[in-house]
Amino acid sequence: MSGIIVIGSQWGDEGKGKAVDVFSAKADYVVRYQGGSNAGHTLNFNGQKKILHLIPSGIFHSNTTCLITSGVVLDIETLVSEIKAIKESHPLNLSAKFLISDSATVLLSYHKVLDQAREKALNGIKIGTTGKGIGPAYEDRASRKALLFSDLFTDRDTLKANLENNINEKKFLIENLYKENPISLEETLNQTLLLREELKPYRCSDTSAIIYNALKENKKVLFEGAQGSLLDLLHGTYPYVTSSNTLAGAALVGSGIGPGFIQKVIAITKSYTTRVGEGPFPTECSEQEGKVLQKKGEEWGATTGRIRRCGWLDIPALKYAVRINGITHLALMKLDVLSDLKEIPVCTAYKINGKITPDYPVHSPQLTISKPVYKNLPGWQEDISHIRKFEHLPSAAQNYINAIQKEIGVPVEIVSVGPSREETIWRHQLF
Ligand code: GDP
Ligand code: IMO
Ligand code: MG
Repeated sequence: MSGIIVIGSQWGDEGKGKAVDVFSAKADYVVRYQGGSNAGHTLNFNGQKKILHLIPSGIFHSNTTCLITSGVVLDIETLVSEIKAIKESHPLNLSAKFLISDSATVLLSYHKVLDQAREKALNGIKIGTTGKGIGPAYEDRASRKALLFSDLFTDRDTLKANLENNINEKKFLIENLYKENPISLEETLNQTLLLREELKPYRCSDTSAIIYNALKENKKVLFEGAQGSLLDLLHGTYPYVTSSNTLAGAALVGSGIGPGFIQKVIAITKSYTTRVGEGPFPTECSEQEGKVLQKKGEEWGATTGRIRRCGWLDIPALKYAVRINGITHLALMKLDVLSDLKEIPVCTAYKINGKITPDYPVHSPQLTISKPVYKNLPGWQEDISHIRKFEHLPSAAQNYINAIQKEIGVPVEIVSVGPSREETIWRHQLF
């Protein structure tokens, strides 16, 4: 049992990129199993900042092999740019340590055009998607129209026929329903032919076999989730969700392995809460308080640059995430951002139609009318970013962590006190 699933427990951007980068020092494999280039995972090391959208966040460690499995929707244009940027800045033999499943779903420019056109056309209730084509690409997979990564490497005529089959309905919608610019099959084909050449070295016929064999040999495998639990297609704040399953279970299905190999499920959790895009957010704070968190936490999107909505920690939502993921441990991120606050509100229950409940309501309309019931915990008025041991944290910060553990019944194993690798407090060994 040497598999660790790393997921976001809130609405994304919890700090998964930093956590996975730090955890990767001890891992043999790092696996991206769902989502696509809607993800923006930030890493900070050696004074440099890197944002990854598709390539697993363990890529900068010499000991890791990084895999993209069939559950991912593969935006090949973004991926090629990302590969180029990594090669330019790092002397890595990428083809020796990065593999893409032949059965990943291909996402092309017209998926993005359709996603953006739909958002533009929505009256009133917009989802606020990242515009990266995620919904249309997963629709293709579900309706069995998708091009798989292996399909890119057929002869020109077969590829053209497959593309035509995939593009037709979307072309009709884009041009006739949404009245956007025409989509050219020939241009798409030519662009795809160029991009596939760049991706050929990374082809892998069956990533699930690699993972299975690694786990059988007790190799250490990290499964890197994207987005967050409350954005899950089935269990999140529908319809304000993404189009994939973001829960720990998706690591198994998306990479094609069984549950018996999983040692831990680590929830990456921000010490407060943020959300990008539309949808209910009970603990969203006032504009003034929000500005403080936004500024200190640098809360704007790594993918779209949008300002993130900010709010306080939501225990009922976190308990829900613990339950639906089978979370065994927590990594509490961005604790440094809360320094200097006199008091820190933590939502411990909701008031719904005058009744107080500790439970998270799963339906968005109910969540929308849920009012947070806060408990104010004492803050600490000192910088904590240099601290590397739990015992050295100010007692109010220790108290904040202990209070969370007590409320949710899951130990906080890692505390992050800054964006860079070394700004991390370990309470136990990872593997
Ligand atoms: P992800 O999508 O979950 O990987 O998170 P993002 O990378 O989108 O957003 C997290 C942001 O917080 C990034 O800018 C990180 O560099 C930053 N970050 C991560 N951990 C910490 C931390 O402990 N303290 C501070 N101040 N910033 C952090
Ligand atoms: P990481 O992995 C935060 C949100 C979008 C929108 C909704 C649907 O960086 O945590 P989509 O483009 O997926 O159809 O958008 O989901 N969203 C994210 N929010 N972090 C992410 O990824 C997100 N990926 C999608 O803002 O509300
Ligand atoms: Mg992000």
